[in-house]
Amino acid sequence: MALIVITSASGSPGVTATTLGLALTSTRPTLVVEADPTGGSAILAGYLRGGTTPPDSLIDLAVANRHGALAEALPRMTVPVSEKVSFVPGTRSHTQARSLGALWESLATVLRGLERTGQDVIVDAGRLGLLGSPEPLIRAADLCLLATRSDLVSLSAARSWGESLRDDFERLGGAASLGVLMIGEGHPYRAREVRSVLQIPVAASLAWDPETARVFSRGAKAPKRFDTSPLVRSLRAAHDRLEATVESNRAELERAV
Ligand SMILES: Nc1ncnc2c1ncn2[C@@H]1O[C@H](COP(=O)(O)OP(=O)(O)OP(=O)(O)O)[C@@H](O)[C@H]1O
Ligand SMILES: [Mg+2]
Repeated sequence: MALIVITSASGSPGVTATTLGLALTSTRPTLVVEADPTGGSAILAGYLRGGTTPPDSLIDLAVANRHGALAEALPRMTVPVSEKVSFVPGTRSHTQARSLGALWESLATVLRGLERTGQDVIVDAGRLGLLGSPEPLIRAADLCLLATRSDLVSLSAARSWGESLRDDFERLGGAASLGVLMIGEGHPYRAREVRSVLQIPVAASLAWDPETARVFSRGAKAPKRFDTSPLVRSLRAAHDRLEATVESNRAELERAV
């Protein structure tokens, strides 16, 4: 894998839970970046249950970037989550997020470079269209995943945002770098139906599994048989599919140049 960015159109389909879920079930070291401009870190308050107070946040990274010291500052800003996962906490408030415009572009370059160190990066980009949205990160992603549930209300909101994303990625010549992340396969619609509504391939599907999802979104105690729960199994399968998509996109790109 490489730089994966997850975003959503509306509601709260499970972007943060999936970002952490993918990171914590990966076999590779992973850096999670909380770039949701909503502010008030959902990961610090949720998965880490308010027990960690990081000295710095994205706003300090923006200051370091202004001084041309972004790459050096990044490791100082990261908070360990597990042996293999660390994360950069988002801004404390939405008002701070508005001043991050200049950071995203440089951060995209630094994050893409992390692949050389064997690290994957997964970005929680929050909802599309918010002030302070990390659009340059979305465009720089090896794979941008539009997260949606599979019910009609979710799909109806995802449709117009999906159209805008599709236009953007097509204009940039990277249509294959956009995929749908379906949360709740078969609740009620299936991947084939979601694909035909959104006109974007379904890059991965996750099981509907509220109990396990709460471990990632709220730091709830892991249920019995966590490792074999439907969500964890679908997260592992998602890794394989996402990795295969990134690899085939890269091979395609190499053939084209
Ligand atoms: N696969 C899943 N199955 C069932 N419930 C899920 C799943 N993924 C996430 N959830 C639940 O959905 C709710 C919203 O999750 P989460 O906070 O991750 O969404 P979000 O898209 O990040 O929302 P927001 O845009 O508000 O930040 C949480 O209660 C979470 O436990
Ligand atoms: Mg979230």
